[in-house]
Amino acid sequence: MALAMENSEKDAARAILRWYAEMGVDEAVAAAPADLQTWGKTERSPAPKPRAEPISAGPVATPIFDSQTLAVPADEAIASAKAIAAGCDSFEALERAVLDFEGCPLKAGARNTVFADGVPGADLLVIGEAPGRDEDSIGKPFVGRAGQLLDKMLAAIGRSRTENVLISNVIYWRPPGNRTPTPIETSICRPFVDRLIDITKPKALVLAGGAPTQALLGLKGIMRARGVWREIETSDGTPIPVMPIFHPAFLLRQPANKRLAWHDLLSLQARLTED
Ligand code: URA
Repeated sequence: MALAMENSEKDAARAILRWYAEMGVDEAVAAAPADLQTWGKTERSPAPKPRAEPISAGPVATPIFDSQTLAVPADEAIASAKAIAAGCDSFEALERAVLDFEGCPLKAGARNTVFADGVPGADLLVIGEAPGRDEDSIGKPFVGRAGQLLDKMLAAIGRSRTENVLISNVIYWRPPGNRTPTPIETSICRPFVDRLIDITKPKALVLAGGAPTQALLGLKGIMRARGVWREIETSDGTPIPVMPIFHPAFLLRQPANKRLAWHDLLSLQARLTED
């Protein structure tokens, strides 16, 4: 049996690695693969028969994890997130709750939970999409190239995360290969996002990019949604002005749109300085 790889096998292996790299899979994060495509679906393969009868059949706590897939069923995860988020009365409690939350399958493949960065009492809250590789390794939102551009954009209107802005995302764990978060993943994180808005009650909420715009306003198409002020309500009915803007990563790819982004920033500055 030939132990050495044939050249054709090496070429095939190189081709697979190249494909992984192109898809953004640039590091191994878990020893065993997780099938995220089938996660959360109600139909599962039948459970294997128990090898022996249990010794005692006393009351058993309902496990949140499915013993076959080690995944939390989506509806249970969403219900659990809602209950936990509703019980949080401060930014610190909410942050702790998100760090401890085990209901989102993305957590299994992430290095860090990325909740928020900046000043919790700030009157400006910026919500983006999801952590990327840099955010995942550091545990803070918007710290990569896009984050640096976001910081510059905010600085242009006198805002910084050390003084007067809070930054978060609609997803708290890096999706593998930076893929778009699924609607289920977004729904699981959503109660925490809503609670963050409830607790901080910002004077202005900015949605950076199409994903948070779709998640929080139900609007598709950032080209049309950007720059327009709308309102959402907190759980106690407080109206919060909200405006979508271009995602800074999009502006890095298409700098010609910075002109429109500047227009939106001026509108934001005007809103924040209003009485
Ligand atoms: N893009 C986002 O939307 N959020 C981050 O935290 C980083 C990049």
